[in-house]
Amino acid sequence: GRVCLAYSGGLDTSTILKWLILEGYTVVCFLANVGQEEDWAEVEKKALALGAERMVIEDLQREFVDEIVFRAIQCNAIYEDRYLLGTSLARPIIARAQVRVAQQYKCDLLSHGCTGKGNDQVRFELAFMACNPSMKIIAPWRMPEFIQKFQGRADLLKFAAENNIPVSSSPKAPWSMDDNLVHCSYEAGVLEDPDHTPPKELWTRTVDPLDAPDKPYDFTIHFEKGIPVKVVTPEGETTGSVELFKLLNKIGHDNGVGRVDIVENRFIGLKSRGCYDTPGLTIARLAHIDLEGLVMDSKVRKLRDQFVTIEWSHCLYNGMYFSPEREFLENSIIFSQKNVTGEVRMSVYKGGAYTLGRKSDASNLYSEEDASMDSLDTFSPMDTTGFIAIQAIRLEKYGLQKIKDGEP
Ligand code: ARG
Ligand code: SIN
Repeated sequence: GRVCLAYSGGLDTSTILKWLILEGYTVVCFLANVGQEEDWAEVEKKALALGAERMVIEDLQREFVDEIVFRAIQCNAIYEDRYLLGTSLARPIIARAQVRVAQQYKCDLLSHGCTGKGNDQVRFELAFMACNPSMKIIAPWRMPEFIQKFQGRADLLKFAAENNIPVSSSPKAPWSMDDNLVHCSYEAGVLEDPDHTPPKELWTRTVDPLDAPDKPYDFTIHFEKGIPVKVVTPEGETTGSVELFKLLNKIGHDNGVGRVDIVENRFIGLKSRGCYDTPGLTIARLAHIDLEGLVMDSKVRKLRDQFVTIEWSHCLYNGMYFSPEREFLENSIIFSQKNVTGEVRMSVYKGGAYTLGRKSDASNLYSEEDASMDSLDTFSPMDTTGFIAIQAIRLEKYGLQKIKDGEP
């Protein structure tokens, strides 16, 4: 058979590559560029040296930002109040491209190096099945014959030595990382103790807030229909989705914005400790929420917050991107963003991101005159007397009942 393997060049996927070849498969390796740090030429060299038929590397950064990252900003996506979903957002883009590559090179099998305990196996395989239901999947970390052979890192290193798999000379970080344009994640290893504070050198995408400049840095983000379209800094203007997102990453990086350390609930039912640094998305999300305060209808906002934000975030976290419910939610996200056009002035300082002001011509909902404490012309305070009296009907009855029942 012909296998398309998600290959990163690391020890795990190199072992899987060699193992598949020894099992008699022909392997096409695939690596998606979703904005991670990588020596692409080195990965390709390694795959071919190990016997891959070819190494396909695709730049998916724009697809990633335009299709999914900006949608996450539009709906303020967040998981369990803290995690901005960096890994979850990239998976559908990577998996769909892998299926495309598999089809192009006539593979009938798909393989990946995800463990059998995580979210990623679920995300990849649900996406594979939705994008091409006829392909079969090889998940080595769930195959008894594979896990019996490779019970720990020592077995992997022994196999590497026996099979001329080059092992990187730089010592491996004592945790697992997943890096893309949105974030870098850190899990497992020493972090499995939830009371073990991440060491200073763990974070790769943000400086320590304590080491950030002693001066705030101010800039403006322009939005159109909830999508960031321009960032203006003292140094100039940046447009283009990937370009402006990278700029927000740099601003967040330099000022230590976007670090999160949590214990989260995985889809498969385990709790897991994860650290994430997500500089640009943290800033963009905050600015977006602020602009919505100015322009969004209150009832639409409430429904969106209670339902759409949570459901869309869970769809992505649980690997349900290629689902009818995600498409259904997406339509309501787009509707909710019709008037989310305007600009937000922001400041970042030592780990914090703050809003300095916002403006918009797109909505008539906010009226300085209506809201003003100094004007009585457009909104009559006398009308409010009746509004309060009607709202109080139920509460007065409830209060009387409590007095009658002798409750405090
Ligand atoms: N816990 C996060 C998530 O489920 C991060 C997963 C990181 N994945 C990885 N292969 N290191 O989205
Ligand atoms: C893995 O288990 O492969 C990484 C973590 C996750 O998928 O949640």
